[in-house]
Amino acid sequence: MQGKVVLLIGANSTLGLNIAYRQIESQDPNDALTFILTSRTHERAVEAGEAIKRFNEQRETPREIAIFPLVLDLADMHSITNACTEIKKTFKEVNYVYVNAALGVCSGINWFKAIQEVITSPVQAVTDPHYKIQQTGLRSKDDMGLVFQSNVFGPYYMIRKLLPCLYLGHAVIVWISSIRSDPTYLPLDDLELIESDTPYEGSKRMIDVMHLATYKNLKSKGIYQYVVQPGIFVSQSFNVHLNIITYYLMMIMFYLARRWGSYWHTIDPYKAANSAVYVTTFKDRDFERQDLKYGSATFNDGVEHIKPEEINDRGKMVVGEFLSSKEEEWDLKLDV
Ligand SMILES: NC(=O)c1ccc[n+]([C@@H]2O[C@H](COP(=O)([O-])OP(=O)(O)OC[C@H]3O[C@@H](n4cnc5c(N)ncnc54)[C@H](OP(=O)(O)O)[C@@H]3O)[C@@H](O)[C@H]2O)c1
Repeated sequence: MQGKVVLLIGANSTLGLNIAYRQIESQDPNDALTFILTSRTHERAVEAGEAIKRFNEQRETPREIAIFPLVLDLADMHSITNACTEIKKTFKEVNYVYVNAALGVCSGINWFKAIQEVITSPVQAVTDPHYKIQQTGLRSKDDMGLVFQSNVFGPYYMIRKLLPCLYLGHAVIVWISSIRSDPTYLPLDDLELIESDTPYEGSKRMIDVMHLATYKNLKSKGIYQYVVQPGIFVSQSFNVHLNIITYYLMMIMFYLARRWGSYWHTIDPYKAANSAVYVTTFKDRDFERQDLKYGSATFNDGVEHIKPEEINDRGKMVVGEFLSSKEEEWDLKLDV
């Protein structure tokens, strides 16, 4: 069984699983689905598959689904080429790609600053916080900026190498960005985000610009690429730096922010996954704009909706050229 093939990069994450659930719900009832689920460990990829199967079986009419766990470390170019070889060997075509994986390098919270921000600007403090401390200067074993490689170049390179399968599958590619991707986060003289003290946000900004630089060329091959953002939702990744008290305080702040009009506080990861799957359901692809960032949003009573936004194209050419020169460099190094 193959049916429609969905490559879900970063499957066993809070959002990743919910993207899979919504994909199961939104797909044409007659389509079987095969999920290629990636994780850095086989166990976590298998676990994601179990969760997705459980979700499917609880539905009134379970869909025919198959799971293909795949080990992939985006911070390792050999792992990327191995994963691509495995996919090309097993699947003639791939129909959907979700680039959901992201490496955050938060090493702690500046509590003094956090309290100050919460008191002076509470909604801002839980929307665009400036109290998270991120590690700087991190490089991968391939000697690239670690966050740049994991969040941008790794998946970009993978997509480039999978083009034959994507072409045959008339694929839809969905990149998960963030609301925290202001142009100021991306220093054009440090595109690998090595010196940056906000590499995570810089990588999300780079995704936005990379999308603008590449989607037209992909479209000419019949491949449709979109960039979306999930709003702000509760993720398992939050637990690392919070205890039970700070976790519940954060939750209270999230709900208050939404009550006070912050439509980006989706909170529930299922609602956060709305925009990612929404863009795959467009009936007339040539009619819908691809140069927008589609956001998952909620009204203040929690009802979900989609909120598209314009993307600032500053640095588009520079980023596009940088990524294609990096691709050439790695084609030579890996001899592909
Ligand atoms: N939480 C929010 O409010 C929020 C807001 C805006 C955007 N987002 C975005 O939403 C997406 C999902 O967030 P989440 O909180 O659900 O994620 P998460 O729980 O933090 O999980 C991160 C995922 O990324 C994968 N990953 C990390 N580094 C990787 C690497 N080097 N190679 C391959 N995979 C790697 C992990 O895979 P394994 O650990 O299984 O290997 C895991 O599946 C991310 O793109 C995030 O930036 C989240």
